[in-house]
Amino acid sequence: MKIGVDYYPEHWDRTLWRQDADLMKKSGVELVRMAEFAWSKMEPEEGIFDFAWLDEVVELFAGREIGVILCTPTNCPPLWLYEKYPEVLLTGRDGRRQKPAVRGHRCYNAPRYRERVELMVRKMAEHYQDAGNIAAWQIDNEVEAGSCCCDVCAEKFREWVKNKYDTLEAVNQAYHNDVWSGSYSAWSQIPAPVGNYPITQYNPAYLLDYQRFMSESTIDYVEFQAGILREYFPDTPITTNTWFCEHMPDFYKLFDKLDFCSYDNYPATKLPEEGYYSHAFHLDLIRGVKRKNFWVMEQLSGTPGCWMPMAPTVRPGMIKGYGLQAIAHGADAVINFRFRSATGGAEMFWHGLIDHSNVPGRRYAEFEELCRTVKAMRHMEGAVMQSGVALLCGFESEYAFRLQLQTEGFYYMEQLQAFHAAFTSFGVNVDIISQEADLSGYRIVVAPVMYVRSQKAVEQLHSFAYNGGIVMLTTRSGVKDENNNCIMRPLPADYADMTGCLVEEYDAVGNGKVAVEMDGKDYEGTHWCDIIRTECAETLAVYKEDFYAGKPAVTRNLYGKGVVYYTGTVGLPALCRKLTERMLEQAALPYRTDLPQCVEVTTWEKEGKQFLFVFNNDQTVKNCLFDGEQTELQPFEMKILERTL
Ligand code: GAL
Ligand code: ZN
Repeated sequence: MKIGVDYYPEHWDRTLWRQDADLMKKSGVELVRMAEFAWSKMEPEEGIFDFAWLDEVVELFAGREIGVILCTPTNCPPLWLYEKYPEVLLTGRDGRRQKPAVRGHRCYNAPRYRERVELMVRKMAEHYQDAGNIAAWQIDNEVEAGSCCCDVCAEKFREWVKNKYDTLEAVNQAYHNDVWSGSYSAWSQIPAPVGNYPITQYNPAYLLDYQRFMSESTIDYVEFQAGILREYFPDTPITTNTWFCEHMPDFYKLFDKLDFCSYDNYPATKLPEEGYYSHAFHLDLIRGVKRKNFWVMEQLSGTPGCWMPMAPTVRPGMIKGYGLQAIAHGADAVINFRFRSATGGAEMFWHGLIDHSNVPGRRYAEFEELCRTVKAMRHMEGAVMQSGVALLCGFESEYAFRLQLQTEGFYYMEQLQAFHAAFTSFGVNVDIISQEADLSGYRIVVAPVMYVRSQKAVEQLHSFAYNGGIVMLTTRSGVKDENNNCIMRPLPADYADMTGCLVEEYDAVGNGKVAVEMDGKDYEGTHWCDIIRTECAETLAVYKEDFYAGKPAVTRNLYGKGVVYYTGTVGLPALCRKLTERMLEQAALPYRTDLPQCVEVTTWEKEGKQFLFVFNNDQTVKNCLFDGEQTELQPFEMKILERTL
């Protein structure tokens, strides 16, 4: 477990470097991440490389036994590169090449870009091969799988389609191209999705394939860099940092061949006025990507701004508390973004640990406390988190849901988040894993919105339930086949047998509320109502209004030795919590019902010891009972309790 900072020596006068390194050392910093945007400093002219400045900084850290995470600087190609090879710029959906004004606008498939990237990465890796303190490599920065529509991408996509379907007839069939006279009579007619039309006017089967192709192009680009780095650093761990954005590459495939997963963690500083907010959802999702611990490459350190009006400042307790929360969910390293706020450039108001004044203040003092606390936690390293609950996630459903918004306010990831929040409220560990991951060892599997078919996931869920597992399926499951076309069978189609019910009709209710009754009590759902007919399932909840009043809203079916729940609406928190409690009870998993709202508990084990991370994810004091004693938690305080098993 290590704490570090993101540092941009290229932004500061070199007289500050030594001073900064000394302060970091004194504070207990053990890792420094650098260079992800510094290409023009390292290759100021084509083919002329200069690493002297970075050498000096790397050595300063080496002398203080601080590990360096080096990043390939490929997120920001230098302006000379764009000027000489404009074809490396990303082309938007409007068919226009973007301008080189800001970072990140490059096409991963452009041959010239690949060529320049290869040289840059090779030179850098070669140069630092013998530096003793390279702790890890980060490839690029927050790679996204947005749509590049340049000619190279279009051509590559045609190849991709050819490889996948072999014949034009097969493509036409897979895309249902009979609609709107869309049949291809030559490969050349398969385009990149250029055009000024809303995305909703394109064929969703084709669009999902383009998104898959973009995700694979992104992954190929990352693996291409990893391959070069491995030639020089066969034993140094390699990663790339991700975040939750609109165009995420498929994380399960992205990290498959990388050594570990890393993530940029920016919890909101403005808490919701009511209700529950837990970004621990993201942390659990990231831990589940490789089903092992991860690093946080950027961690909230100061007032966010620039991309939007400034948010409230980081409240007292957040720096230490959110750092420890990340560790409680599996972070082996937390790197704070950034050591000092930039005094220039577009991001000058996205604050770091130290403000523009360069006077370390309240936040920096709290950061130093975090460093001290984490140093005293070394004996917990190697602890494992056991979870009886898996929550399934699939990027294909996420993509397809974005391509065709089902109804106002209905988002894929929020369906997972709702159940995650419910389990969290009971203090239960949750693994968020791929829909296709192995399910053995779990007692409960929650599979929200199994929208696009994965045959493997369908089969695994069936056998998990059949052999005694508890499964929760929700509305909009079994809707699409692998090609993103509707399945011509009553919903939930692939899951009809295991749920023991059929959806006769549905009602897209947008942001409206839906009254539901269960066990004589009132609950609410939203967004969607499946009007269900039970075949062999029992009815747990019914709708209370509209023309389907009295019809089942939630059902439960015995399937083999297991139990399958089906929720036909999107449960608001009380309903999700009630259903979650039923599953926990049935699975005989330990849970607690007395946790105050926003208190989160994660449990780790090592060599006969149990570590309980108890976190107050809120700005008011909370009290709760642990081991027979009242425990008081200050705002954002983490308490770590040790028990002998
Ligand atoms: C991240 C990005 C950083 C910085 C930060 C704060 O998404 O990787 O370079 O921009 O956000 O805005
Ligand atoms: Zn392109």
